[in-house]
Amino acid sequence: MQTDPLTNPLTKNVGAENIATDLERYRANGGYRGWQKALQMAPGDIVKTAQDGGLRGRGGAGFNTGLKWSFVPTGDDAPPVKYLVCNADEMEPGTFKDRLLMERDPHLLIEGMAIAAYAIGARTAYIFIRGEYHLATARLERAIDEAKQQGLLGDNIHGSGFSLEIYLHRSAGNYICGEETALLNALEGKRAIPRAKPPFPQVSGLWGRPTVVNNVETLCNVPPLIDLGIDWYRGLGRGEDAGSKLFGVSGKVRKPGTWELPMGTPIHEIIEECAGGMCDGLKLKGFLPGGGSTNFLGPEHLDLPMDYGAIGKAGSRMGTGTIIVVDDRTCPVGLVLNLSRFFARESCGWCTPCRDGLPWVVQLLKRIEYGQGRPRDLELLREQAERMGPGNTFCALAPGAAAPILSGLKLFERDFSEHIARGRCPYVAETEVLEA
Ligand code: NAI
Repeated sequence: MQTDPLTNPLTKNVGAENIATDLERYRANGGYRGWQKALQMAPGDIVKTAQDGGLRGRGGAGFNTGLKWSFVPTGDDAPPVKYLVCNADEMEPGTFKDRLLMERDPHLLIEGMAIAAYAIGARTAYIFIRGEYHLATARLERAIDEAKQQGLLGDNIHGSGFSLEIYLHRSAGNYICGEETALLNALEGKRAIPRAKPPFPQVSGLWGRPTVVNNVETLCNVPPLIDLGIDWYRGLGRGEDAGSKLFGVSGKVRKPGTWELPMGTPIHEIIEECAGGMCDGLKLKGFLPGGGSTNFLGPEHLDLPMDYGAIGKAGSRMGTGTIIVVDDRTCPVGLVLNLSRFFARESCGWCTPCRDGLPWVVQLLKRIEYGQGRPRDLELLREQAERMGPGNTFCALAPGAAAPILSGLKLFERDFSEHIARGRCPYVAETEVLEA
């Protein structure tokens, strides 16, 4: 099955049989047309197209991609060596969108990387891929080989004078490796701890050279944007933001999954129409709009369009655009504990509020969930999570971990208090004993 490239530029090949290993089929469906077109353009015009097209980073932060590229020094006194890095270390809880693109349409990513590298003047590019993504790794390796064999990568591509090599680097497996500066340290063979910003990588990144780090989905947006143009791209979005987006839903819905939809699609449409609504007998109690490090929103926010501005105004972030649904029979304290355990385990230990704060948070949440919570624990939990907030650490891990705790304490206040008042989790039968 193939979908319409004009409405589904990211997933137009995803359902097609054998597309993952078949360069010919990719090309037959318009593949590498953007790359051919880009090679006829001045690099600065590609940067401007990305910027004016309104392409925003799909890794979670939503920074304007063309603007990011524009920070890379150009001109005669610019450093001669520059790098492009694709961040394929997808590990945000509840997020499984980049994997789909890499497994099912690897040439789309290779083409996006080729255009981005040309735009910023990088002749070497890396894909830093999550270690567990075995199938995606194999398919990307093959796609790189195929593209090289056909002269789409390598030396003097199509006589343009531009050369590009793309290398795959498998992560040793830690959430922090997805933070762009920790990722650069990991690529350099160092311990994966975040660097201070500024300087931003666009100026001083890999081995101190100008480096752009872009997410997989972001780069996959580039070929259709260059091929079909700004007006088409902007027109794809239904709200403030341009383009289409891979949205996902997990939790107790009938059909969890990932779908490409216009940016700005209302949340209730994604949950009801794509994910089939809540499982029988369950009600939606709240949701995390964009992965485990965003703020919970309540049912009153279901009509919001999924775009960066609208979700931001409601007090959360669109993040990775993958919604985690909370139903009325799942313990929200247990859910927050589960997320906090993950973040505590994944902390690199570089900053004190993260290294020492997260284990304290886990202890407090365990105490509350397992029935030994004291009334003062809620205030302690709030204070500790606030200490992990923005500005107190080098990177976004601890502030991200604090988000579901602080917003959960507000949205699910009654649940937290009931655990303490009853001395047990109200979501399990009285005869059941929870074990840490
Ligand atoms: P950020 O907002 O600090 O930066 C985003 C990008 O914009 C970076 O590439 C940065 O270099 C650039 N940038 C920001 N301000 C800049 C400035 N003043 N000048 C030049 N460049 C600038 O966000 P960060 O820490 O890179 O990413 C956090 C996001 O990552 C979160 O929103 C979270 O949702 C997401 N995330 C996604 C994961 C995944 O598996 N996809 C995993 C973990 C987090």
